[in-house]
Amino acid sequence: MVVGSGAREHALAWALAKSADVVVTPGNAGMAAHGLTCVTTPATELEADLFVIGPDQPVVDGLADVLRAQNKTVVGPGADGARLEGSKAFMKEFLTAAGVPTAAYGVFDNESAALEFLSAMKPPYVIKTDGLAAGKGVLVTRDLDEARVDVREKLSGEVFGGAGTTVVIEEGLDGEECSLFILCDGTNALCLAPSQDFKRVGDHDEGPNTGGMGAYAPMAAISVQQLDEIWRLVISPTLSELKRRDIDYRGVLYAGLMVSRSGTKLLEYNVRFGDPETQVLAPLYGDGLYDLLLAVGEGHLGDTTLTPSGAAVTVILAAEGYPIRPRTGDLIHGLGPDGQLAEPLENVIVFHAGTARNEQGQFVTNGGRVVAVTGLGADVAEARRRAYEGAALVTFEGSVRRSDIALVASKGAQ
Ligand code: AMP
Ligand code: GLY
Repeated sequence: MVVGSGAREHALAWALAKSADVVVTPGNAGMAAHGLTCVTTPATELEADLFVIGPDQPVVDGLADVLRAQNKTVVGPGADGARLEGSKAFMKEFLTAAGVPTAAYGVFDNESAALEFLSAMKPPYVIKTDGLAAGKGVLVTRDLDEARVDVREKLSGEVFGGAGTTVVIEEGLDGEECSLFILCDGTNALCLAPSQDFKRVGDHDEGPNTGGMGAYAPMAAISVQQLDEIWRLVISPTLSELKRRDIDYRGVLYAGLMVSRSGTKLLEYNVRFGDPETQVLAPLYGDGLYDLLLAVGEGHLGDTTLTPSGAAVTVILAAEGYPIRPRTGDLIHGLGPDGQLAEPLENVIVFHAGTARNEQGQFVTNGGRVVAVTGLGADVAEARRRAYEGAALVTFEGSVRRSDIALVASKGAQ
């Protein structure tokens, strides 16, 4: 049973369906067209051997606790562990206690104290909403005036409602971003291949932060030595701190890292799979994913290891106006009745996020991120070529996409 309705859940369900019968709640039009069973019944009213919770909100709201109380096997931490994502202020306090390297920071709910702290920082200025904000609660800017306005707006609570009346102001970090997914079964942990997400809406990392505009894996720029160091300095102390706090973490711990020559720092933890990173990782792990996730839920991850072969790249096609005010209802061209490419290309998969069917049964846009087009190949260059060939076949009015996803990595020159 997969909970959620985005391209991440489409990718998870598609990979799990290689080994099991899968039901998605609520799913979306594209998943249903792709042969996946979608139901509107809530997860708490369904029976399944394994529950995988995709999005952040239900994890933070404690869905895993409710399901476990019903004796179900779940991938996803309880509300206690989920605070790592639910509150950035809590996460920073946790990291300090665990001794995990992270950006220097201050937490404020008072405007004058926040502005005073800000003026003592060096650019770039980093301002974060404390609570969940769909990847859009972070401003990184070199412009002090813009930063000041952002602090005022976030503290006013007008932009992010209840999620936004506390801000975290951070030291700006430089380096290469890496998403590392650690599967935890409460005792053992193992990490999936490192991947990279492209967060800004525009090419060359310009424009506002989004939920993510594309991704690739594996990220060869992260060496085995760096991974060892990340494990030693970031992951191990985190697992010990979880234990010390009596948090039985069974799920995916998503480490958002900034890797640089001067060392690695943790930007943030999330408590679930990434979107769009899952649209590259799920195809890479393919039919091995079910056993891995079952081992997470059942608590016997210890003897499982699996290294994927090949590479994957995904390109997000977003609606006009994303991430600020996405337009919906535009007809999508280039998809067949199964929601995949009308003219199929080998090793290209379309994962649906914000799509719906109109009265004539045609696919139309229905959200900010519309589809993720994933290409698979022997290496990043081949996977990238396929992803972009596929993405070029899917068109709709005003579509927004980056042209530089995995470009540097595909040249092997990071
Ligand atoms: P977060 O939601 O905390 O991961 O932040 C979203 C994005 O903002 C990250 O993926 C980075 O691209 C950027 N970011 C967050 N914190 C910092 C920081 N301290 N320095 C530089 N960039 C950051
Ligand atoms: N890829 C960013 C996220 O899932 O939060």
